[in-house]
Amino acid sequence: MSFQKPRGTNDLFYDAMDKFNFVSDSLKNVSKKYCFSQIETPIFEHLELFQKNIGESTDIIQKEIYNFEDKSGRKIALRPEGTAGVIRSYVENKIYGNKNTSTKFFYISKLFRYERPQNGRFREFHQFGVEYLGTSSFYDLIECIVFADSILKKFGLDNKYILKINNIGNFEERNKWIKKLKEYFNNNKMELSETSINRIDLNPLRIIDDKEDSKKNVVKNAPKISDFLSQEQKDNFFELQKSLLQLGIKYEVDESLVRGLDYYTNVVFEFISISNSLGKSTIIGGGVYQKLIKHIGGPDQTGIGFAIGLERLIHLLDEYNLFPNLGNKIEYLVATKSKKNELFALALSCKLRNLGICVDSIFEEIKPSKLNKYATNKKIKNIIWINDDSYENQKITLENLETNKKELLDLEEFITSIIGV
Ligand code: HAM
Repeated sequence: MSFQKPRGTNDLFYDAMDKFNFVSDSLKNVSKKYCFSQIETPIFEHLELFQKNIGESTDIIQKEIYNFEDKSGRKIALRPEGTAGVIRSYVENKIYGNKNTSTKFFYISKLFRYERPQNGRFREFHQFGVEYLGTSSFYDLIECIVFADSILKKFGLDNKYILKINNIGNFEERNKWIKKLKEYFNNNKMELSETSINRIDLNPLRIIDDKEDSKKNVVKNAPKISDFLSQEQKDNFFELQKSLLQLGIKYEVDESLVRGLDYYTNVVFEFISISNSLGKSTIIGGGVYQKLIKHIGGPDQTGIGFAIGLERLIHLLDEYNLFPNLGNKIEYLVATKSKKNELFALALSCKLRNLGICVDSIFEEIKPSKLNKYATNKKIKNIIWINDDSYENQKITLENLETNKKELLDLEEFITSIIGV
C-alpha cells in the first residue's frame, strides 16, 4: 500500500526547507528591528471563535474551514488565519494591561483552508503576520503599511507588486453602506449570478469582490463607501495617502477592495503581485479592525495588522531568482578506507564539530567513485580519509576534490591549522 500527501499540502526538505528557513529567519529579524514580540497560539481553536469573528457569510467560514468534533463533542477548527487566535490570547491572558502604547506581536503560523489548490494556493500554508493591538495612533497604521512594503523591498521585489488601499468606513459607516448595497442589489437581482443573489442578504460586500460579477456594470455602479464616509474619515484617508507619498510608497486607491474577512473597518490594503506565473494574486493583506478586540471579549480597542503568505513569497523569490546561496556549507567529509576505524572517524568528526567546523561523515565502506559523487552533490571540497593505520600513527589523508591533491598529514597539526590557532 502506498500513501500520498493530501491535496494542497507540501513536504519541505533540502532546498525547499532551506528557502523556507531563510525567509522565516529574515522575517523574524526584521520584526525584531520593529520591536515586535513573537507569539504562538494553538493550531486549533473553538470553531465559534472563527465563525463569530471572521464572519459567518465569508468564503472562509462557509466553504474553507476545516472543522471537526473532538472526542468530547467540542466543535473545533484548524485555524484558517492568525488574527482571531492572537486576539483571543491577548484578551484571555489580559495582555492589554493598563498601557497607553500598543502591544505588537508577530507570528509565523501554519494555516488551513479548504481551497482549490493551484500555484501559490494551498490547503495547508504558512503566514508571517503582525498585529498592533490597542493602538490609538494614526502613525501605527502608516508604520504597518511601511513595514509590509519594506518586507517586499528587502527581499528585492521592488516594482514587482502594486499596493492597493481603500477606506471601508468605521463600523457604523460600513453598516449603512451594507444596508444600501442590500437594497440596491435586491433591486437589480436579474443582472447578478446565482451565487451573488444568495449573498445579497448575507454579505453584499462579497459581491463587490466577486471575480466575475465585479466586472459587470451593475456592480461597478453600486453605491460607493465614499458616499457614506464622514468628513473626518475622508480627511484621515487623505492624510494617509499624503504620508505614503512623502515616504515614497506608491499606491492605488481601489474602491472595490473590501477584503475577504468581515472584521475589517476603516483602512484596508493589499499588496498584489504582477508576476507571470502567480497571476494577480495577493501577497500581503491587512487593515484596521476597530471592534474585533471588543467582540472577542476584550476592551474597546482598535487593532491593525497584515499577513504575508510565505509560499507566495517563496514562489516570487524563485521566479525572480532572488534567493542567495543557501544551505549549510559542509567543510569536510570524514570517510574510512575500511571497516576498521569507524569509531576513530566518528570521534574525529565530533571533535571537529565541537571546534565549530561543519563536518559530514560516512561510516560505510564505499567505492571512491560513489563517495566523490556524494561529495559533489553536497558541494563538499575536502575529504578527510581515515586510513587503516590512522589510529596507530595519528595521521590522516586530506583529499582536495577540486585540485585532486592528496596529502598525508599529522592529525594534530592538521586540526591546529584548520582552527587557525
Ligand atoms: P488573508 O488576505 O486572508 O488575510 O491572507 C493573507 C495572505 O495569506 C494572502 O495575501 C496570501 O499571501 C496568503 N494566503 C491566503 N490564503 C492562502 C492559501 N490558500 N494558500 C497560500 N497562501 C494563502 C488574513 O489572513 C488576515 N488575518 C491578515 C491580517 C492580519 N489582517 C490583520 N492582521
